[in-house]
Amino acid sequence: MTARSVTNRLGGLAFGGDYNPEQWDEPVWKEDDELMRRARVNLATLGVFSWALLEPEEGRYDFTWLDAHIERLHANGVAVDLATPTASPPPWFTLAHPEALAVRADGTRLVHGSRDTYCLASPAYRSAARRIASGLAERYGDHPALALWHVHNEYGTLCWCDHAAAAFRVWLRARHGSLDALNEAWGTAFWSQRYTSWEQVLPPRATQYHKNPAQTVDFHRFWGDEIIAAYCEQRDAIRQHSDRPVTTNLMLPYDLRLNVWAFARELDIVSSDQYPDANGLDGAAHVAFYADRSRSLAGGRPWLLMEQGTSTVYDGDQVIGKEPGDVLRHSLGHIARGSEGALFFQWRQSRAGAETWHSAMLPHAGPDSRIFREVTQTGEAVAALAELAGSTVTAQVAVLDDPDAMWALEADGLPSPRLDYHAPLAGAHRALWDAGVTADFAHPEHDLSRYRLVIAPSLFLLSDKGAQNLRRYVEGGGTLLVQHAAGYVDERVHARLGGYPAAPLREALGIRVDEYRPLRKEQRITLSDGSHGTVWSESLHTEGAETVASYTHGMLTDSPALTRHRIGTGQGWYLSTHLDDADYGALVGRLLKEAGVEPELAGLPAGVEAVTRHAADGRRWHVLINHTEDTVPLPDPGHDLLTGTTAHELPPGACAVLRGH
Ligand code: GAL
Repeated sequence: MTARSVTNRLGGLAFGGDYNPEQWDEPVWKEDDELMRRARVNLATLGVFSWALLEPEEGRYDFTWLDAHIERLHANGVAVDLATPTASPPPWFTLAHPEALAVRADGTRLVHGSRDTYCLASPAYRSAARRIASGLAERYGDHPALALWHVHNEYGTLCWCDHAAAAFRVWLRARHGSLDALNEAWGTAFWSQRYTSWEQVLPPRATQYHKNPAQTVDFHRFWGDEIIAAYCEQRDAIRQHSDRPVTTNLMLPYDLRLNVWAFARELDIVSSDQYPDANGLDGAAHVAFYADRSRSLAGGRPWLLMEQGTSTVYDGDQVIGKEPGDVLRHSLGHIARGSEGALFFQWRQSRAGAETWHSAMLPHAGPDSRIFREVTQTGEAVAALAELAGSTVTAQVAVLDDPDAMWALEADGLPSPRLDYHAPLAGAHRALWDAGVTADFAHPEHDLSRYRLVIAPSLFLLSDKGAQNLRRYVEGGGTLLVQHAAGYVDERVHARLGGYPAAPLREALGIRVDEYRPLRKEQRITLSDGSHGTVWSESLHTEGAETVASYTHGMLTDSPALTRHRIGTGQGWYLSTHLDDADYGALVGRLLKEAGVEPELAGLPAGVEAVTRHAADGRRWHVLINHTEDTVPLPDPGHDLLTGTTAHELPPGACAVLRGH
């Protein structure tokens, strides 16, 4: 079961989104049918938040209203992505099972009235979730309208309650084997934390001062596994009755809670949601960042953009409105990078409830609106791209991404509070995106041999296996850039002794770091090549590497800051500070050249995004997006699927999908 089974059923790429008809009544449903046809919608996600309707009281299911909507959509040529509603238990559930409500680290027990208010480790919640997933699958498992199963919504709710504590202990026993091993792994010899019985072991709840970092990392690992187990239970219940593919929509921007690589392996199709945190070029780069991560999690196979917004989206304490043209540009940005379609949250903008002001495909103003016109235009465009279904994207560069390393930087007591996981990760991807190079993400223990260049921006934690793998990669001819504070701790979050980073990586890089020198907030240093650094500096010694740039301040004056080491047939670079964006971009440009990596399409100016999708039979398509304000002549004109004519140039903000030769 793959993405192909969905696109075969749809006869092309997917277009549509979350459909919540329970918010409306019959005349509106009739209008939905007509407008969905107009917008070329072919896939609707039903039932994401419908638990209260589907099971009005414990154990009594009512599927009649859902029957009617599925039949109506089917008659209208719209396939169904059927959700299990388990991300929002109804009020009766929480009253009947108050112990299943989530508890925060500070002990506050939450109450219903929002969504996602449950402890995933609670037995009552888990069995209610399994039961309703199974009931839905039994009823609709082989319905001809059904294209895809959508389990839950954006897993990621953590809990610190007693159920979580009990499940955490079971997980710890399995991981560590004995209490002695746990004590050793958690370094409980410090601060008198030695445990003498399993009952004493708790989730990292609110504490007086720093929590034990190994306990924090293990808690994240535990939840990463528990979330996957909860998903698999529903998936397996569905598989008893249905042969359609099963997925869950990953919320990658907040994947702090997910063990993404392991989770993705359990999904028949990787699907993800993406809401940009900026407009303009930064917004487009954000699209590319999450699309490339989704494709990488899918192992390069086609994946599906499950949700995006048409305009206003919430980003922390601010609301961002997309610019005119972004609906098409962002949809094609995802499709360019391997998505088998473009879906949205949600079809019709709510008139009441918590997301009344979140944009939708059909805004409050109705079809006579800029947003609906852009949605219709995008639906036409996606329909014209049917032949891309099943084609894939290849990359010559990888950025390393490891949830263990991310969780290690979530812990207390770090060598600097300014060490951050995501900013350097996004920074590395952005420098490659600016250079017109498509990047994959990869785990440090993956086989990296197909990449010419690998960048490790944020590997504070690096396993022994990962360190050995990176050395093998360099010796075998790869070009590797490792960035500051890498390999400082092992998988137990224990500091590496004898100099950083982990020994096999030190040998690959030909360096040894003997002291870390975090920079103060306002501190910006200059290197001998004129570039600037912030956040971090290190006293490092070359052990075979050459110095490319050195420090020019304080006790580090004249000591190496950026090094290069040739070993085997490859080279390992080490950058011991956080460079300013422009300087970092120049370094990445130099490494691309050294590694012989060219932009996807030559001859395009900066700001024109170009990605190629390849079919197994040799056909290919170049997806081009002009993010600049100028008309750009195309170096290699070709047949544009969007207009059906030969494209010679791209107007400002325009897109084209050219058949390659
Ligand atoms: C997603 C979520 C949707 C909706 C949307 C709004 O993260 O899955 O249900 O809340 O955000 O941006």
